[in-house]
Amino acid sequence: MPHPPLVAVLPTGRLLRAAAGVLRRAGLPLPEPGEADRRLRIRGGPVDLLFAKDRDVPIYVEHGVADLGVVGRDVLEEQPAHIYWPVDLGVARCRMAVARPADRPLPEPPFRIATKYTRAAARHFRSRGIPVELIPLHGAIELAPALDLADAIVDIVETGSTLRDNGLVEEETLFESSARVVVNRASFRLRADVLGPMLERLEAAAKAKAAPRP
Ligand code: PRP
Repeated sequence: MPHPPLVAVLPTGRLLRAAAGVLRRAGLPLPEPGEADRRLRIRGGPVDLLFAKDRDVPIYVEHGVADLGVVGRDVLEEQPAHIYWPVDLGVARCRMAVARPADRPLPEPPFRIATKYTRAAARHFRSRGIPVELIPLHGAIELAPALDLADAIVDIVETGSTLRDNGLVEEETLFESSARVVVNRASFRLRADVLGPMLERLEAAAKAKAAPRP
């Protein structure tokens, strides 16, 4: 009997645009760029594809509805799941940073931190023994210090232009992030015959992208 295809869950949006080239090179049947395609499930190729919100990718993989997935380390740090992270695709690189107004050093703790990443921020300051008040926001975090809602923020920095344009400077990096391939723990053992070669292709495609052109 033929084996069922692997199921991969991919995040919609910015991270997928950054990783699409590497994923196609590894053989994932992604729609071609520019194709208007709003399907959330694509079947019939060598791998079944699901498209989900990035924060939901670890949940799909942990629960085994997908054998593997692609998600940023920023999401994995915020939302720990019982899954493996075997391959770093090396794309969608950014860092999680503490940033403060350029003209206002951090006050004495406890200071107020606005962030979408409350768990990562809490862990970071707890590990340094610094008391903080966390102010959870859903986006446009850079606005909070200008309105004196917060003394600083914890957020993703990619090019740095959002910080600059809002008068903020980086104080400290929590960790570097990039797109990771994540794998369900049972699939890793039980589907090793097809998953192993797939992970090798993903790793090779990521390396080919990183290699300098001759
Ligand atoms: C992310 C992040 C920063 C920005 C950083 O926001 O939260 O605001 O990108 O990128 P940069 O360093 O290249 O300027 P996103 O666009 O995802 O929207 P959000 O503010 O709603 O989170």
